[in-house]
Order: sequence, then C-alpha cells, then structure tokens
Amino acid sequence: MPIIYHATSHEFHLYNQQISYLIQILENGQLGMLYYGKRISDKESFSYLVSGRQRSLAVYVREGSQLSLQYAAQEYPSYGTGDFHDPAFCIVQENGSMISDFQYVSHMVYPGKKPLVGLPATYTESEEEADTLEITLEDAVDGARLVLNYTIFSDLPAIARSARFINAGSQVLTLERAMSACVDLPDDNFEMVQLSGAWSRERHVKTRHLEQGIQSIGSTRGNSSAEHNPFLALKRPYTNEFQGEVYAISLVYSSNFLAQVEVDTHGMSRALIGIHPDTFSWQLNPGESFQTPEAVLAFSANGLNSMSQTYHRLYGRRLARGFWRDRERPVLINNWEATEYDFDEKKILRIAKTAKQVGIELFVLDDGWFGARRNDFAGLGDWVVNREKLPDGIAGLANKIEALGMKFGFWIEPEMVNIDSDLYRSHPDWILHVPARNASPCRHQYVLDFSRSEVVDAVHDMLYHLLSTAKISYIKWDMNRYLSECYSIEKPPSEQGKVFHQYILGVYNLYERLLKEFPNLLFESCSSGGARFDPGMLYYAPQGWISDNTDAIERLRIQYGTSFVYPLSSMGAHVSMVPNQQVGRITPLETRTNVAMFGAFGYELDLNSLSRDELDMVAKQITFIKEHRQLLQFGIFWRLRSPFEGNDTAWITVSPDQSRAVVAYFQILNRSNTGWDRLKLAGLDPARHYYVNGNTSCVYGGDELMEIGLVLQREEICSSGDFSSTLFDICQAGENEIGL
Ligand code: DGJ
Repeated sequence: MPIIYHATSHEFHLYNQQISYLIQILENGQLGMLYYGKRISDKESFSYLVSGRQRSLAVYVREGSQLSLQYAAQEYPSYGTGDFHDPAFCIVQENGSMISDFQYVSHMVYPGKKPLVGLPATYTESEEEADTLEITLEDAVDGARLVLNYTIFSDLPAIARSARFINAGSQVLTLERAMSACVDLPDDNFEMVQLSGAWSRERHVKTRHLEQGIQSIGSTRGNSSAEHNPFLALKRPYTNEFQGEVYAISLVYSSNFLAQVEVDTHGMSRALIGIHPDTFSWQLNPGESFQTPEAVLAFSANGLNSMSQTYHRLYGRRLARGFWRDRERPVLINNWEATEYDFDEKKILRIAKTAKQVGIELFVLDDGWFGARRNDFAGLGDWVVNREKLPDGIAGLANKIEALGMKFGFWIEPEMVNIDSDLYRSHPDWILHVPARNASPCRHQYVLDFSRSEVVDAVHDMLYHLLSTAKISYIKWDMNRYLSECYSIEKPPSEQGKVFHQYILGVYNLYERLLKEFPNLLFESCSSGGARFDPGMLYYAPQGWISDNTDAIERLRIQYGTSFVYPLSSMGAHVSMVPNQQVGRITPLETRTNVAMFGAFGYELDLNSLSRDELDMVAKQITFIKEHRQLLQFGIFWRLRSPFEGNDTAWITVSPDQSRAVVAYFQILNRSNTGWDRLKLAGLDPARHYYVNGNTSCVYGGDELMEIGLVLQREEICSSGDFSSTLFDICQAGENEIGL
C-alpha cells in the first residue's frame, strides 16, 4: 500500500520505489509538509522535521506553542495567520476578512485516480497504476471545505495534486487565489529552470540561481503563452542532464498561470503553481465548488533527462488520450508556407500528387479555405467553404485526396472572428469586449467569448456539420492572438473575474465534444506556433505545432527545450523551404529532415519546387522515418549535448527493450582542424553489443558506447560545411556480428 497513515503521529507517507512524500497534521489542525524527495523507509513519525523554536518577530499559532507558520513547511498555506510568504489560496468573506483556518477533518485513500470534471488531467487505466489520498479540511468559521488531492503513480516518481473548494457554509465566499500546488523545500541551494522565449523562439531553457525573494514566471495572456511555459524545475547547481536532484512542477492548464519560487530569510524555498491570481476572482455561492487545475510534481535523483522521461511517460501515455495516443503519426504535408492564402484546388492537388509519390500520408489544408478569407482581414468565424477556391467543397477535395491514397485534414481557428465576417455581422456582441470601450485588434481578429455556452454551441454546430459531411482525418486547431479586454457582457460584475478560466473551459468543452463525436480524428493544437503548447492541450490534441519557426538550427533549441516536459510524439516538426521564411538561413535538406524527424514529422513546402534528386532524397528519408517511426516518436529520449551550451547538439532515442536506437548529431558552424571528439551515448544496455550504422558501420559494446563514446568522424561531418548533421542507426548485434 503506497499511502500509509500513522494514526498516532498523524502522518501520511506516500511512497513508491523512487520517492517519498511526508505530510503531517500539525498541532493546529493544518497540514505541514515534512519531506519530499528520494524514497526513504517508513517509520511511525518524522515530526522532528517540523521546525519550531522561538525566534524574534515570529508569530505563533497560539500562546505557549512553538509552531510558527512562518517557519513550518506547509502543504497548502493560507494568508494572514503568521506565514508571511505568498499563500496558496485566499478567500474573501462577507465581512471583508481574508483569514482562513482549514483544519483536518478526514481523509480517504483509494486505488486509481478520479477525473477532474471539465478539466484536463492525468488518469489511470487500472487501479494498480496509482493511489490517491484525499484530505478534507474545514474552516469552522465560514463553513468552507477544502479537499486536497494527491495521486502517487506506482512506477513513476510523480505526484499529481489539485485542490477543491466547497462552500458548505451560508455566506458568499470569493476565492481570490487558488493555486494547484505548493511545495516547501527546506533549503535554497537550487537553480530555477524555466522554458521561456517568444513567438518563434518558444521554450528556450533558462536557468538562474535562486535568491532571497520571489522569482516567478507566468501568463496573463489568456493562454499558456509563447513567453513562458507552465513549468519550472528546481535543480541543484551540480545537477546536469545525467545526475543530480531535480524537483519539477508542471501545470495541466492552458490559460493564465503563475509559477513562482519564494526564498525566505532562512533559506526555505516555496514553489507555487496554479491559475494566475491577478486575473482570477471566483465568487463561490453556498453549495458551489471550485476545482483547481492539476499540477504534476516530478522528482529526479538522476538529472534532467530522468525528469523529462517521467513527464514523457506520464503525459504521453496517461494524459494524452484516445485513438491516436499510441499510434504512429502520419507523415503529413501542410500547404501554409508553400501557398499561404493563395491557392485553389488545382494548386493543392498538384502538391498532394507529388506528396503521395514520395510517401507522404496526410494532406493538411491550412488557413484560407473558408468564407471570404483571402488574407487575414476577413472570413474568420465563417466555417463554410469558399467555393471560388474549392468548387467541390471540402468534401470534394477530401474525396480527391483520398482517391490519391492519402488522408485529408484542415485548419480551423474556432475561437476567433474578423469584423469582416458573416458571424460578426450577425453577432457583434459575441466578442470579448467592454461595452463603450475599444476592443483591441490583433492580426485583425477578435476573440469570441467562449465563456458563453451559446457561442461555443454555435461554433460547434458549424464544425460538426463540416466534419460529418466530409472524410476528415485531422484538424489543426489554431489560436492566433492573446486575449485583451477579457470581459463577458452577459455576466454581472461579480462574475467578471471568472471569464479567463471559463473561456478555457469553453475551449476544453468544444474539444471534448468533437472528440466524442469524431473519436478517430487526430487533433493538432497550434497557437501562432507554440503559444499554447502545454499539458492541458495534450489531453485533447496528442500533438501540437511547437513553433512557426521551421529553421532547422533554431529548431534545435526549440525541440531541445520542449523535450524537457513533452514527449516526442507531441512535437509537430516539419521540413520547410530554404532560405528559411523566419530567419533566411540556408540549411541542407538532410539536416532539416534529421531535426524534424524527432517528432510528429511533416513537410511545410511545395515539393514541386524541389529538384528530382531532392525528391529522391525526400522519398528515401520518408522510408527511413516510417521504418523508425516507433523509435522517433515513442522511444526513450535522452538529450546528450545542449544547443544552449555550444556549437553542437546531440540526442538519442532508445526503444524500451534497448535493442534499437537512433542518435542524431548536429554541428552548427563548421570548424577546421578539430580533435577527435567522442559522443557518449545513453540509455543502452551496457551488457549488450550494438551494430552502429552511421558514417561507418561497426559493432560496439553498449558500455563502450556509453563510457567511451562514438568517435565522431570529423572529416565526414565537416565535409558538408555549416549546419551539418549525422544520424547513427543502432541495433542490437546478432551473435555472429559480435566478433567483427
Ligand atoms: C499560425 C500558425 O502557426 C501557422 O502554422 C499557420 O497555420 C497560420 N497561423 C495560418 O494563419
């Protein structure tokens, strides 16, 4: 039983083979945190870990007590009762007070995990996969209840947490802050790792030393954002990809979030993650409840790769869902960079025919096929085919593509509207805006108020009609602006603080309905590239377009950073034309393919502009990718060299049975007269032998490949100039090859 309750000491021990998490009911009835980290043996009590001693200026829970909430590590700390850190929650009561006192009432342990209604969350497929602890606390003064959920996964060093507030009293309560998790760690000898950037430079790895005070990242943009991903990790200064402690938190949510670490006077570090309190206020009437999104804690004693592998397994297999979760993803071609809005059926079919010849399996028609969409000034909101461009409609084009032997899918941006659209002309009041004030445009588009069910219903009906009258295998769901003037005209003033959250619930609801109605549909999420690439989206769309930046060299950083949390199968990665549209760089076709193949692979160009030789190369590359797709999308991924640290990048993906692997080595700028570099591999079985097929072919011991490394043949790597790359195809050697 991996969750033990010691009734005498009032302590909970959640554990599996890898981690332990200890909670104590403190003397004031609130919950203290005793320990979180590598697995330790159980015992009756660890109460000596509650810090308590007299200190100047400390506020104590009562006369004669040594317990000060300022110094005790806590599970879900409140505001204003002597703990002067930022709290996990804050409830304003009718008398204006913000003081709460949630005391333990009961707890329940059960196998498996319950879903969070209306919200994305990790799940189990059998009861053995996890155990859940639900602790109920109550505030005797206002009658509010708080239920803290902890699910510990049986074979992963991960704990999913969330909180639910229930107004069981008789007064109106207002939640001004409701974080998903708080983790109090006893020291501050950490570096904070975050995945940050901007449009076209998403999820770059950034690291800083913790300092006294608050260090935070977040979003108030209405989606998780390109600027910061809802994730942070605290690693020891000596921790690298292969060794050292890491405490990570990731939020399963796609809207405004705050992730912060506060280091206090005595070097305790408090990590908080949850909905951003600045744009949140939730009035809770008697009888109502509020469920926070889920936060997932991952611990690694063996460096950042191990942390990432935990998230990959959990998010790839127990957050992503449905038909496509474990299936190899089709090689696709998307027409956006090839045509933008300038296409008709003839042009599309020309691209599709060549795509079929080289082995591409799915055609994705991007923006511009609907309404009066000739540019980005018009048409958004009108999900009706433009017959001038596609005379036989979406159904007709889908049939023609299917007749070629490919699947067909198309682009939508269901949350948006242009002023120049039939939808806006009939429902100008459906956009987020404040009456009598300006609604600010972005890309000439406005945001539909998805916090209103009638708006979501109307968009659903248009999409349902399209999807049920044509052979559609795939949808790219885009979202190309952040939310401004986030106000819903149908709601009273007291409900306006709910709009951001209700908006994303509306998005989740539409996804959920379409998935139920069309369970075999493959969704790709997108938001101007990767501005809403987060765990919440993965629950609905098992893959996402991680960036509009398709330059192979820029992608090294983006894919490397994204892989900190997200599995390869979730990362949409395409080969595009050179010079690259975003940075003008010219890179070899081989390198563009070698970068993009580590993900949900595709093309973003007009293949007809390639030479015969290039097309032959593309056909060969696609054959290789199809043969290795299981590894390239579902293998165990190890980062070997970081693009943030030097002139080269390397990674390896290994099959779960360790019999096969693919290594990629990328060199940014060429250098002359270099030494004999050895690339140490990871994840192989040290006791087995492997046949390595790269520039040269040879048999090596697994230990040899990991301890000595592959000698990189500089002459061959360098012969192709800048932006070169080499793949090593590795498989376990047969008996007769070992002696080679
Ligand atoms: C932004 C996306 O990231 C692109 O891939 C493309 O779909 C455009 N939107 C279309 O408007």
